[in-house]
Amino acid sequence: MKEITIFGKGNMGRAIGENFKTAGNNVNYIDVDDPVENIGSIIILAVPYNVALKIAKTNRALFVGTTVIDITNPLDFDTWDNLVVPADSSAAAQIANELPDSKVVKGFNTTFAATLISKKIGGEHQTTVQLASDHDDAKQAIISALKGSGLAVLDSGKLRRARELEAFGFLQMTLAASEKITWNGGFGVFN
Ligand SMILES: NC(=O)c1ccc[n+]([C@@H]2O[C@H](COP(=O)([O-])OP(=O)(O)OC[C@H]3O[C@@H](n4cnc5c(N)ncnc54)[C@H](OP(=O)(O)O)[C@@H]3O)[C@@H](O)[C@H]2O)c1
Repeated sequence: MKEITIFGKGNMGRAIGENFKTAGNNVNYIDVDDPVENIGSIIILAVPYNVALKIAKTNRALFVGTTVIDITNPLDFDTWDNLVVPADSSAAAQIANELPDSKVVKGFNTTFAATLISKKIGGEHQTTVQLASDHDDAKQAIISALKGSGLAVLDSGKLRRARELEAFGFLQMTLAASEKITWNGGFGVFN
């Protein structure tokens, strides 16, 4: 059982929290504007990218030694045509730069909130959460904490792969926003 702290109680914060709870973990939520005192060993930044970056900067000392999951898709919402991070980087890499003594993991950004609740992509195939990080132990801790949640969890490689996961998340959002797929659908992973 792990102590999970989630910043943000929106669609993703709630959907992710329910999965960790179902798998037997303790979950507590923090309002971004509240003072932070107690923190779990796994922290999830379930807020927009600019807010996640600010939380990382503000809480660098408090987050030392913890696993921090960045779930953001850093879209330029004015154009829906770009990410706001450099093309050879990622939101997760930018957040990791702010948290040199934490284990930053990219995760959950390729799965819409509805598919985390239903555990199905398109109502049919099991939802797979992808994780990217340079910290193998952090990925393993997340995989083991989510056992019993009903989600599949895949180690998709090093933090460098966050760039591809974010490109993937970006494309999936444009497809749903243009109604070519539904918010219950998206990309699946099959083996
Ligand atoms: N929705 C999806 O299917 C999906 C899928 C993959 C990744 N993501 C990523 O997940 C993250 C959260 O998305 P979401 O769909 O859960 O959004 P959401 O339902 O709008 O929730 C966003 C959360 O962030 C807080 N927040 C927003 N702006 C803030 C600000 N300026 N200052 C402080 N707190 C702020 C909100 O607090 P208040 O309610 O108090 O404003 C809320 O708790 C985003 O980075 C998104 O890219 C979403």
